[in-house]
Amino acid sequence: MRIDILTLFPGILRGFLDESIMRLAREKGIAEVHLWDIRDYSDDRHRKVDDRPYGGGPGMVMMPGPVFAAVEAVDAAAAPPARKLLLTPQGRVFSQPLARELAREPRLMLICGRYEGFDERIHTGLGADEVSIGDYVLAGGEVPAMAITEAVVRLLPGALGDPESAALESFEDGSLDYPQYTRPPVFRGMAVPDVLLCGDHARVRQWRAERARERTLARRPDLAAAAAAAAAQQPKP
Ligand code: ADE
Repeated sequence: MRIDILTLFPGILRGFLDESIMRLAREKGIAEVHLWDIRDYSDDRHRKVDDRPYGGGPGMVMMPGPVFAAVEAVDAAAAPPARKLLLTPQGRVFSQPLARELAREPRLMLICGRYEGFDERIHTGLGADEVSIGDYVLAGGEVPAMAITEAVVRLLPGALGDPESAALESFEDGSLDYPQYTRPPVFRGMAVPDVLLCGDHARVRQWRAERARERTLARRPDLAAAAAAAAAQQPKP
């Protein structure tokens, strides 16, 4: 997969791309990631990319010219045309199902804003899907771009050491993770549940399923209700 990230602050993303899973995925050729500085597409002598809002009000708004020019240049740099995501708190909320959908694309383009927001013509004219990472406001789209990139890249074949780990974790089946333990068997008086030490795989599987269900109901009743509704939609055998 190829991912192009357009930002005013490419430096924010460099460390992220050079460490851990992102570095390995790039080295293994699983994901190719390119950073682009939107300021390079400003036609202004001072590389200006934002201006005051028409009608007044606080803050600055990102101008359409540099963003359109950057998106068009990046699209032309490779084939096929990218699926474009505009990072904004007004977008569809990112989720594991959307990560799975994006992981099937050959090419993604993530467009990060700063300041008070994008000129509305960027929202309407670019043909991008608007995506938010949650109901809170960040200073820009760079952290959302990192969150989305990592969630997508770790789903690509070969990106995780153990392919089972992506299938077994939180959200993949609409529930939260079961509790995990490793050595030592007792830590500061807190013991690992006996069932995990008994070697009976069927009992372990059942215990984990019960704990995951219990935890999902207690902490995320919304997920539990959605999973129950989805199950009710399935045709009866
Ligand atoms: N830009 C600022 N806040 C954001 C959010 N929550 N999601 C996506 N982009 C953003």
